Amino acid sequence: MQISTATFVNSSVQPKKALNPPKPTFAFIGRSNVGKSSLINSLLGRKKLAKTSSKPGKTQLINYFLVNKAWYLVDLPGYGWAKVSKAKRDQFQKTIANYLLYNPSLVTSFLLIDSRHTPQNIDLEFIQWLGSHQIPFSIVFTKTDKLSKRQVEKNQTALQQIMHKTWESLPVFFQTSAIKHQGGDEILTYIANYI
Ligand code: GTP
Ligand code: MG
Repeated sequence: MQISTATFVNSSVQPKKALNPPKPTFAFIGRSNVGKSSLINSLLGRKKLAKTSSKPGKTQLINYFLVNKAWYLVDLPGYGWAKVSKAKRDQFQKTIANYLLYNPSLVTSFLLIDSRHTPQNIDLEFIQWLGSHQIPFSIVFTKTDKLSKRQVEKNQTALQQIMHKTWESLPVFFQTSAIKHQGGDEILTYIANYI
């Protein structure tokens, strides 16, 4: 899919039922600092559309982007950011959960996971939560430029093996690097199948 236009629509703390007019919506979720905003910029070919930071907790609101005047891409706050108060963490969690549970326009979500790590409990718990609420998602490994292809494969296989224990079929997996602009075309092609 070619990106001809990509514009920031608005930010909101409250998950809106749907933007007006409603259009197919795709959300990016994952731990703080995993690279959500960077991947969105890489996908859309815009350097600074979504604000990024080396410090976790940059994205604190639900940010909506309108792409090709046809679909929305949503940048959500990250979960599991240790350096904020529990109250704020709970609020982020609630924002993310409400958004994913009560959004009729949401087609599917992309759960981003840092490819450098072996499976982390916080991600596994989030995967189980998505499954228990039947929220469709695929998994995107990020920052693959930081390690060898073999190590990325190893960490992906480890996650798939754990998921196999409780999941009948596994979601689609993508491997990406926002810095090297890799893996984005596959995600855009996947999105194009839904719109
Ligand atoms: P929050 O908004 O805090 O939840 O974070 P985020 O998930 O949006 O992460 P963000 O895109 O702001 O990136 C966090 C840090 O990781 C920044 O320092 C980025 O430059 C870096 N980063 C993101 N993607 C990549 C990547 O593909 N490769 C490398 N090497 N660094 C990356
Ligand atoms: Mg962000």
